[in-house]
Amino acid sequence: MEENNLYEELSETIKKQIDKLDELDIYTSNHIHNVPIIAKRICEKLELSKIAITFCVRCAYLHDIGKIFIPPEILQKKERLTEEEFEIMKTHTTKGYELCKATEHLAPYAKGAKSHHENGDGTGYPERLKDGSIPTEAEIIKVADVYDALISRRQYRDGYNRKTAIQILKEETDKKRLNRKIFKALLKVILEDIEEDKKKEDRDLRTLLTQQHYINNILQIY
Ligand SMILES: [Fe+2]
Ligand SMILES: [Fe+2]
Repeated sequence: MEENNLYEELSETIKKQIDKLDELDIYTSNHIHNVPIIAKRICEKLELSKIAITFCVRCAYLHDIGKIFIPPEILQKKERLTEEEFEIMKTHTTKGYELCKATEHLAPYAKGAKSHHENGDGTGYPERLKDGSIPTEAEIIKVADVYDALISRRQYRDGYNRKTAIQILKEETDKKRLNRKIFKALLKVILEDIEEDKKKEDRDLRTLLTQQHYINNILQIY
């Protein structure tokens, strides 16, 4: 429901672009719709304004738009990408940026597409930006993007469980690659998911309580 509403509120120009991504493969398609939902919930936890949230959701929908220019044999490869292939894959950021910049209605969202793989410690791409110079929308998308990528099934592996995904994100945050405030906002989003899961009939309460405890511990020390 939530997802449909978010998608329906988008302009025709944005929808037209997203629909192209939707056709690529199931993993890309799921990812494109998951990231804006997570990003929106992070924004709400950060208590951003309505305008800022709408902006961020649009950026999130368009973040991987440059993938329409990546050859399918690279995008859908089951094995690990070679160095050369990874270099090509990385260009989805600049290609997405250029596409947005060249389209009047998409231009405001261009930086989300370009900078969502930057790391706060300057090890990201394409510009090796550092903490402080990465646009906020890109930092939010990044956290949502990495989390979704970790918990989702991919061509080459099953999804990680929540705790492992959080562990990985925490390590990235400790290295100052992810924004700490945004990571904490994501943890609050996940706590809500756990509460929802607790209501399910087939729940594994022990696992859920362990996850909850783990998150609360991080939130306390962070
Ligand atoms: Fe990306
Ligand atoms: Fe992505």
